[in-house]
Amino acid sequence: MVQGFIAPLSQTTDIFKDDIFKGKVLFCTGGGSGICKQMTESIMRHGADAVIAGRKLERLQQSADELSKATGRTCIAAQTDVRQPEQVRAAVAKAIEKFGRIDFVICGAAGNFLAPISGMSENAFRTVLEIDTLGTYNTVKATIDHLRKSKGAYIHVSATLHYTGTPMQAHVSAAKAGVDALSQVIAVEEGPWGVRSNVIAPGPIEGTEGMDRLGPKRPDGSRDMDRYSAHIPLGRQGSVVDCASAAVYLFSGAASWVTGSVLIVDGGAQHFHGSSFPYPASVLDPESVKNMIKSRIVAVCFFF
Ligand code: NAP
Ligand code: COA
Repeated sequence: MVQGFIAPLSQTTDIFKDDIFKGKVLFCTGGGSGICKQMTESIMRHGADAVIAGRKLERLQQSADELSKATGRTCIAAQTDVRQPEQVRAAVAKAIEKFGRIDFVICGAAGNFLAPISGMSENAFRTVLEIDTLGTYNTVKATIDHLRKSKGAYIHVSATLHYTGTPMQAHVSAAKAGVDALSQVIAVEEGPWGVRSNVIAPGPIEGTEGMDRLGPKRPDGSRDMDRYSAHIPLGRQGSVVDCASAAVYLFSGAASWVTGSVLIVDGGAQHFHGSSFPYPASVLDPESVKNMIKSRIVAVCFFF
């Protein structure tokens, strides 16, 4: 089999300057685990303090302690269900009490499971919309005045699966489409106040809860990611650091004229919808598919 290019994997965001976020404060929902925990860590490594919000206090507190220790900055935990506006307001009040300001907000809290519409209750559908979309709205409502003051920025963690019809993902597709729409409106309404709003849309990210729930498994239950990666133009799944690097960029001064955009971090996966020729062999070694092409031309001529 022809081996394609595999994008280099960075373990850090050292490519950015150390202190670009000195004196800044991040408020991150979903920051207790996975992608958003790494985003928080990377932003803290560049000088910010942080508040992470989620439901499970024990894990959240452990993550806050780990993040503080790893970065030398301060991270505090705020137990919050983003579906409850008063809880989000209380978490924001905790952030202000501790740090006096909020500059950056990541709306990353989300829920997902695999289920077709026919196998999903009204409550199941509503639950994911409430966490992802309403949760984003609640977070924006509770933080907007602080971001106006600091001329801050939002990042909304969305996905790519709603760009096409993804089976078993009606709830998440509807929810993330709503998140994308909210971000656009925030960009337009809040731009004149000096607030930016962008979306990061991750593709399949290795070692996360999301991939564990959605990724392909072999009959014995083990992961079958090789088959998956073969359909990603840049040859591998994403890492949490790939997403964190995008977040550091979008919050940095380098993105000061970037708002209302969607930064897709997926190795090109959403552009590839399959090929009738072997991939990536057909692009790396077109000779290898010459005979297949010829036989198809003959078949088409014969048909007409
Ligand atoms: P994860 O570790 O499960 O992150 C989701 C976080 O949301 C958890 O920390 C969870 O903490 C929190 N959360 C869930 N419901 C909440 C609620 N009602 N209130 C407050 N917090 C809540 O999953 P992940 O895979 O890293 O996903 C992170 C983000 O990336 C999500 O927005 C997801 O949709 C997006 N994404 C992931 C992938 C992927 O490949 N993993 C691909 C595309 C998009 P608690 O349980 O403690 O509340
Ligand atoms: N298939 C179909 N329906 C499901 C389901 C599944 N796999 N998992 C949950 N549901 C349904 C429940 O049955 C319930 O509906 P019902 O009341 O009609 O029975 C509804 O969804 C709500 O479930 P519940 O467990 O009460 O919700 P919760 O608020 O405690 O948890 C979830 C929210 C379901 C999204 C849960 O999976 C979660 O907490 N996820 C966070 C982590 C995550 O998903 N990370 C990946 C991000 S990409």
